[in-house]
Amino acid sequence: MDLICPICGSKLNIPGKSCVCPSGHCFDIARQGYVNLLTVQQKHSLHPGDTKEQVNARRAFLDAGFYAPIADTLIETARELHVTGEILDVGCGEGYYSARLASALGLPLTGMDISREAVRCAAGKYKDALWLCATASHIPVADRSCGLVTSLFALTVPEEFRRVLRPDGYFFQVLAAEDHLLGLKSVIYDEILHKHKETVPDLPGFTLVKSVPIRFSFTVTGNQVENLLAMTPHVFRIGKAGAERLRRTESLTDTASCVLNVFRRS
Ligand SMILES: C[S@@+](CC[C@H](N)C(=O)[O-])C[C@H]1O[C@@H](n2cnc3c(N)ncnc32)[C@H](O)[C@@H]1O
Ligand SMILES: [Zn+2]
Repeated sequence: MDLICPICGSKLNIPGKSCVCPSGHCFDIARQGYVNLLTVQQKHSLHPGDTKEQVNARRAFLDAGFYAPIADTLIETARELHVTGEILDVGCGEGYYSARLASALGLPLTGMDISREAVRCAAGKYKDALWLCATASHIPVADRSCGLVTSLFALTVPEEFRRVLRPDGYFFQVLAAEDHLLGLKSVIYDEILHKHKETVPDLPGFTLVKSVPIRFSFTVTGNQVENLLAMTPHVFRIGKAGAERLRRTESLTDTASCVLNVFRRS
């Protein structure tokens, strides 16, 4: 992947244990194998993005295979479209989906996330990919360098995604649908508020190729019940009573419901 300096935008070279640009801006490659390209100005808090607890919970849950149908749909769709070139996963988390996708397609992968804990966790397990700590609003990657950009349960920044995509490249976006994890919600909330959710958004500079619904049931028991909660934004919204009800839940059968939107540059 052609990396660019997050300060001045010129090409980064990797001569040894660090990345440097012609103006002398220098970024260390961490012992764990990821590159920190997040500047102080781009950080809006000391530890932006997902916490270590969230990252560990997601790793334990995803590695147990509960969401394998989502990874399978990504792989099947990429194969159908004959995706080529480099993959960039934005908001990659601990790397579960994109590591599987890249390995199934035999394509090079770069994953980036604003959370240092997330990229550290990804780099520790998936050694074949390049992992960057960086923000989606300033992607430190050269224009037109990716064949596929993915954003899975993460944020979408259309202008940046379009800039880094090759003209024939694809953008895969996975969004949770309105009926995602209703079982969990019915345990933790007294009342479920139905808020309309746009699952096929209009993206400036992109044309929708297709939208693939993904819906399946799964059952979690023991610790995985708490892991499921920790992976979701509900972990920050849950009240005392809801937390107590979940703590007493030994087994939960739920339905994952999301959509894979495939876009091309228009
Ligand atoms: C719900 S998690 C999804 C992680 C992963 N894609 C998955 O599905 O397992 C959203 C991720 O986006 C990251 N994130 C939040 N703001 C970001 C930003 N501005 N730039 C890059 N990543 C960001 C978080 O740290 C978190 O890892
Ligand atoms: Zn520079």
